[in-house]
Amino acid sequence: MYKFYEGKIMRTPFLFDIYPDLKEIPWRSLDVQITPVHRLKKMGDYLGCSNIWIKRDDVSTPHYGGNKPRKLEFIFPVVKLQQKKTIVTMGGIGSNHCLATTILNNRLNLGFKIALALFQQELTADVQKKLLLYQHFGARLIQEEALVRDQAKIFAELGNPYFLMAGGSNSEGTVGFVDAAFELKSQIEKGEIPKPKFLVVTLGSAGTLAGLMLGLKLAGLDDVEILGNGVVDKKTTSPRNVRNLAKSTLKRMRSFSDAVPDISTSIEKPFVSYDFLGGEYGKVTPEGKKAIELMDELEGIHLDTTYTAKTFAFLMDFVRKEGIKDDVILYWNTYNSIDLSPHVKQLKFQDYLSLPKEFHQYFQENLAGLPEE
Ligand SMILES: Cc1ncc(COP(=O)(O)O)c(C=O)c1O
Repeated sequence: MYKFYEGKIMRTPFLFDIYPDLKEIPWRSLDVQITPVHRLKKMGDYLGCSNIWIKRDDVSTPHYGGNKPRKLEFIFPVVKLQQKKTIVTMGGIGSNHCLATTILNNRLNLGFKIALALFQQELTADVQKKLLLYQHFGARLIQEEALVRDQAKIFAELGNPYFLMAGGSNSEGTVGFVDAAFELKSQIEKGEIPKPKFLVVTLGSAGTLAGLMLGLKLAGLDDVEILGNGVVDKKTTSPRNVRNLAKSTLKRMRSFSDAVPDISTSIEKPFVSYDFLGGEYGKVTPEGKKAIELMDELEGIHLDTTYTAKTFAFLMDFVRKEGIKDDVILYWNTYNSIDLSPHVKQLKFQDYLSLPKEFHQYFQENLAGLPEE
């Protein structure tokens, strides 16, 4: 699974060993490593459940963790093949996907121009920092409404860019999470983690859940029950959308390798709970805040209010309601926990003045506690 590349050990996708023809799929290392799995012992004691485990995708790369790098390893090389110079992608003003795309492009010198079309979400200290970090790492910011209104004009200005949908959840990127399921299988086989009965993961734009769902099936782990927690409403991402994305991802894989079995008719809509959404995307919820406090205090792992805290709140509720005591339940952590403070330290509050003026409204107060000039 590892080979040497410019003197460094590089991981290659498990899928390339299992289906050798898939080596033709565009893929480029972004330094994603096999992410650790371990038991959440203190959390388990607190919840009276002995087998709560975590998959640490929060440390997926040394540059920026979370779930986006796995997808982007299969997306950036597609952009390059299409000879596009600019990537336009979308997200909320505090989008991890937008930050991951921007940071990885910058840190690994990929050479793309990045334009981010951003929509409003609840303003927090984290959102303010993200807006300044996008700029710090060289992205250009646009309001999403402006892109919707004037798409042809903006695309012409940007020189016919590659459009990457929100969350990087296209069939290209989703292959990254099919591979992640095979990574989990190898960890089970090595005895690093017992086979989970339940796998709990966040559902936003669908790539993570769709890829894992498809990957578990292909890897022969279809008895692992996967539970999605919706952090956007059902109209935005439904279980049907997840199933469709899993199917189109399978189709893409099969277009490169006949050895990938055609299991499309057995791909069903996943279970998804929307009970912990709290009304809208990005809304801070009391259950989420509680999950953040507990994870910080008991395990020293930091969750975020928009995605991972809501999903952990769902997990706690599920454990309680179902009376789970010994069954293995795996929480797939999709948030970044790579320390960005060396970059944040370079920011000043007044940096917001160089953002396009439509974004100044988010800086009426210094919520992020940044130094002022
Ligand atoms: C921290 C975090 N967790 C989960 C998700 C959801 O993953 P997906 O968009 O693949 O459904 C996202 C992005 O949307 C995210 O930033």
